[in-house]
Amino acid sequence: MREIKLADDIFWVGVNDRTTDLFEGLWPIESTGISYNSYAIKDKKNVLIDLAKAFKTDDFLNQIAGIFPPAEIDYIVLNHMEPDHTGVIRTLRMLAPKAEILCSPKAVPMLADYYGITGGIRQVNDGDTLDIGTRKLSFHHIPFVHWPETMVTYDPKTKVLFSCDAFGGYGALQGTLFDDECINIDYYEKESLRYYANIVAKFATPVQKAIKKLEGLEVGCIAPSHGLVWRKSPSRIIELYAKWAEYGTSGGEKGVTLLYGSMYGNTEAMMNAVAEGIAAGGITPEIFDVARTHTSYMLPALLANRGVVVGAPTYEASLFPYMTTILEKAALKNIRNKKAVYFGSYGWSKGALKKTLEMTQPLGWEFLENLEFAGAADDDTIARGYDLGRRIAEAVR
Ligand code: FEO
Repeated sequence: MREIKLADDIFWVGVNDRTTDLFEGLWPIESTGISYNSYAIKDKKNVLIDLAKAFKTDDFLNQIAGIFPPAEIDYIVLNHMEPDHTGVIRTLRMLAPKAEILCSPKAVPMLADYYGITGGIRQVNDGDTLDIGTRKLSFHHIPFVHWPETMVTYDPKTKVLFSCDAFGGYGALQGTLFDDECINIDYYEKESLRYYANIVAKFATPVQKAIKKLEGLEVGCIAPSHGLVWRKSPSRIIELYAKWAEYGTSGGEKGVTLLYGSMYGNTEAMMNAVAEGIAAGGITPEIFDVARTHTSYMLPALLANRGVVVGAPTYEASLFPYMTTILEKAALKNIRNKKAVYFGSYGWSKGALKKTLEMTQPLGWEFLENLEFAGAADDDTIARGYDLGRRIAEAVR
């Protein structure tokens, strides 16, 4: 996409990435892509806000060259040091030798560590401003949204908030940048939730503090560094982030995530009975085969649904390994305060339930009832599985 005008003298000069298969080397984006949004302000001083990943350097330089020659950049604002927003900095520095880098104090050692950059840096403290001609940009620290050094930049003239990772989402731009021009906003909201659950969920309390802090600014447009720019309904994406952050304490909404794994079909047969019980209880479960689904896609459901069903067999006297993996990720992302039940088959030894409880107890998951059975479940045991489904549905209704 070519550069796009956001407001007076402000241009999107970002790039789309449809090449990276795993964001952060972890999270699949091969079917969605992602954008690295960068913004150029052409005032009496030329300013660039946030950059792009290193392998996109050529594309990125072409974008900014449409606004001003790199040699004429006065300031480069780095709201956040993660290399998806800073990877081009070393090359850009060579082309823009007079540009001063503005970043938070905690970003300064990171600039040295990642890029060997130690000079031409201005530290900005929380609330500092920068006069660039017809406006004074202000900088506001929002630590841990996503890293400790993260800040946002605000333009009081146009009321644009350059929020970096905050309020961002997966999904390369599909020919439109703005929320009011996007006809599949549900897609971006869904991919924003997946991004939140994968990248930001661990930092729910910092997100809540950041939202509270930014209430002091009159925001007319949210310009994050990933995904859509929210100029028609900036409050929409702020409300979504506030809701998702609240899930960390509320446990989520009425809904059940049914995670299952099965070695020979016995746990899967029980899963069908449990799912019938949940459906009979008035809830359609979100069902995931943990061996065949990337954790990236399970985390949003785990975050949003108050109920969790763990259905997994014992494997070598412990928990089916793919279930261990998703429970570890849930712990890493601080997905807390769930109502839960367990079921699973065992052969020569139990162990899965014990491991499940050990892993989830620190997260405040309350297990209402559990059902371990040897080998294949008989009709009576299947009926108990159905009742287990009813029980969890009633608990989250
Ligand atoms: Fe988009 Fe935390 O970087």
